[in-house]
Amino acid sequence: MRVLATRRFIGPAWDELGDVAIDSLDDAHRDVEALLVANEPIDGAVLDRFPKLRIVANFGVGYDQIDVDGCKRRGIVVTNTPGVLTDATADLTFALILAVRRRLGEGERIVRSREWTWTWSRGFLADEVAGSTLGIVGLGRIGAAVARRAQGFDMRVLFVRSTETDEQLDDLLRASDIVTLHAPLTSKTHGLIDARRLALLQDGSCLINTARGEIVDEQALVRELVSGRIQAGLDVFADEPHVPEELLGLDNVVLTPHLGSATLSAREAMTRLVVDNVLAVLRGDPPLTPV
Ligand code: DGY
Repeated sequence: MRVLATRRFIGPAWDELGDVAIDSLDDAHRDVEALLVANEPIDGAVLDRFPKLRIVANFGVGYDQIDVDGCKRRGIVVTNTPGVLTDATADLTFALILAVRRRLGEGERIVRSREWTWTWSRGFLADEVAGSTLGIVGLGRIGAAVARRAQGFDMRVLFVRSTETDEQLDDLLRASDIVTLHAPLTSKTHGLIDARRLALLQDGSCLINTARGEIVDEQALVRELVSGRIQAGLDVFADEPHVPEELLGLDNVVLTPHLGSATLSAREAMTRLVVDNVLAVLRGDPPLTPV
């Protein structure tokens, strides 16, 4: 079998691959030339099990789990799926911003538990999104799509690119009502938002993460959230699917299970791109979206 995937990806493009073995990466696969993965760890030990491998095609834009240098040394192409999940992830970012600022999770829980006993004109007040300052950390495709949406919500937008200086990031954290993370996970961004930086956030401000959990010091974030000083909307965690126990009972955090790209059209387009990359490389053509 020339093609192996860790699971079947959704959408009609899949059938164009022909025969695909679905298996874990635990065993040796001497004939496999194309590997389709969804951000599973691909290190030297895994690559050694695939001596004929020509391409690792990742279903997802983030490829932090893949040893890209190791692949390059072996002449293996690595591809990802940029572009096609930008709107889905930017929409989810805004869903979290609105959910946190307008206390949607808390409100929903109150209605469902039949604890809603007051008339609308009393209490349960939240923060206005319009007029607030949004700080975007990482201005790639998704960060830019979030910035465009923020203009429609009459927000003031600040941003730092991942290449900018520590001082610029610190200034953005101090000045923002809402901070949203859109940097890739790399050795430079691992733990970027550490305890010192979390402490720079204004009282009552909000941190949104739809990028990668490891960009934030999760234990330090838990401490800030338990103290009630800040709010958060979190779609990603350091050790998924584990979510720190302390967060589960908090009303100042909205939690979702890594849903950034989870729309039917985004996922089908991701499969299309994975398949096109694999077929191109197996034909001997250049990949469409190499990393
Ligand atoms: C991505 O595309 O990187 C998503 O977060 C899934 O890993």
